Amino acid sequence: MRLRSLLAAGAVIAAAVTVLTGNAATAAATRYEAETAPAVCTGTIDSNHAGYSGSGFCNGSNAVGAALQFTVTAASAGVASLGVRFASGTTAGRPADVLVNGTRVTTLTFAGTGAWTTWTTSTLTVTLNAGSNTVRFSPTTADGLPNIDALDVTAGSTTTGTGRPDDPNIQYYGRWNTTDPAYPSMGWAGGYLETRFTGTTIGVRQRNAIDLYYSVDQAPPQWRRNVSGTVTLATGLAGGTHTVRIGYRERAGSYTGDPVFGGLVLAAGATTQPVSRPVNLVEFIGDSITVGQPNVNRPFTAYPWLTAEALGAAHTQVAQGGACLVNQDCYGMVDWFRRSSAWVSTDDWNFGTYRAAAVVINLGTNDVGHGVTTAQFQQQYVVMLQRVRQAYPDAEIFAMGVFRGRYVTETRNAVASRTGAGDTKVHFVDTSGWVDPATDTSDNVHPTEAGHAKIAQRLRPILDQYI
Ligand code: GCU
Ligand code: CA
Repeated sequence: MRLRSLLAAGAVIAAAVTVLTGNAATAAATRYEAETAPAVCTGTIDSNHAGYSGSGFCNGSNAVGAALQFTVTAASAGVASLGVRFASGTTAGRPADVLVNGTRVTTLTFAGTGAWTTWTTSTLTVTLNAGSNTVRFSPTTADGLPNIDALDVTAGSTTTGTGRPDDPNIQYYGRWNTTDPAYPSMGWAGGYLETRFTGTTIGVRQRNAIDLYYSVDQAPPQWRRNVSGTVTLATGLAGGTHTVRIGYRERAGSYTGDPVFGGLVLAAGATTQPVSRPVNLVEFIGDSITVGQPNVNRPFTAYPWLTAEALGAAHTQVAQGGACLVNQDCYGMVDWFRRSSAWVSTDDWNFGTYRAAAVVINLGTNDVGHGVTTAQFQQQYVVMLQRVRQAYPDAEIFAMGVFRGRYVTETRNAVASRTGAGDTKVHFVDTSGWVDPATDTSDNVHPTEAGHAKIAQRLRPILDQYI
């Protein structure tokens, strides 16, 4: 994943890929031919393999980065379906980054079609801006692209929703407990939800008091502290569609706020619309450092949030102040990460709810205070890595050495043990030198906001190699 910050993207609506669950009423597709300007083909326009539409197809040069770029138009901002018509007479797949308006949204691998005259269409869903958009296919291997004939764009899904918690246009991130469908509750820390909506105002229904943060149209997050009932978030918005993200302060320690989502309050006649989900979600498992405590602007100043946003990925923090790896008189995440929150008493989380592309574990700072031996720690870390693998069969798993240098050898050994057992997607992250307790923490343990930013800067390129 190329470096990309949604927040830094400002007013540009970040494009992202989604799988739609609603009943999208689809309009007719518009075809953009690869041989017709403003499309740009890095290679030649050929016509020697029958079955193409228009007057030819793009035979991209066989080289990394020999891209084909289309320029497409959408009447309004929102999701659109892209159908790429291609042929590939070789057996090896040809992977390519897909960039929408310069943002990489996914990698698509064009499989062999059996012959250069056998054309097929691969479909993906992206978010487009109103007006002109670029869609670029940039090959990542020396084979280059397959031969590409055309791009079919179906913009403007008309699936609208109510803004109630069960509205399929609302995308939830993190561990949400939906036992009470009227009030889904955010477990752990750093969960949030997003949707697109019409109308010039937006609000949210809360039950009991909570600190909530929100962001409209990807502006920097704002707080509404200690609010309940109907909470107005924005008024006087421009016409058209907007996006909103809402999240809550985590319930932890003596803070018993009510982090539940009771639905959106839309303007009269307004609706929600589908919003895309980023390709990747990163789950961060840890303790108070991963929560971002005690900084007042957690979770969005904490390293997990900063790291994932910079990668253009969704994210959540399955983390709790004081948590340990080992379940011995402590929130032992080896067991507790299987729960929807720290305040349920069964391993109730359904790992089918979402798939993490990466899981980052930062545990071991607190075990020392609970008499956990090094041998016990290492053995339990192996169990943790096995369980995360079971939960997410394809995830890249990162085991961070903790900043205070505790059980680092054991963490490294646990990773080596899993690698030795054939798990090729588990990585030890050496964090020595990342955090200077004197300058980067407030109390020798907890990073300041600047300390978190520094950690994110180091962690991001490591994850970037894998997702
Ligand atoms: C063959 C084929 C081309 C194709 C090329 C490739 O030369 O005729 O149309 O582009 O292989 O492997 O990319
Ligand atoms: Ca070619």
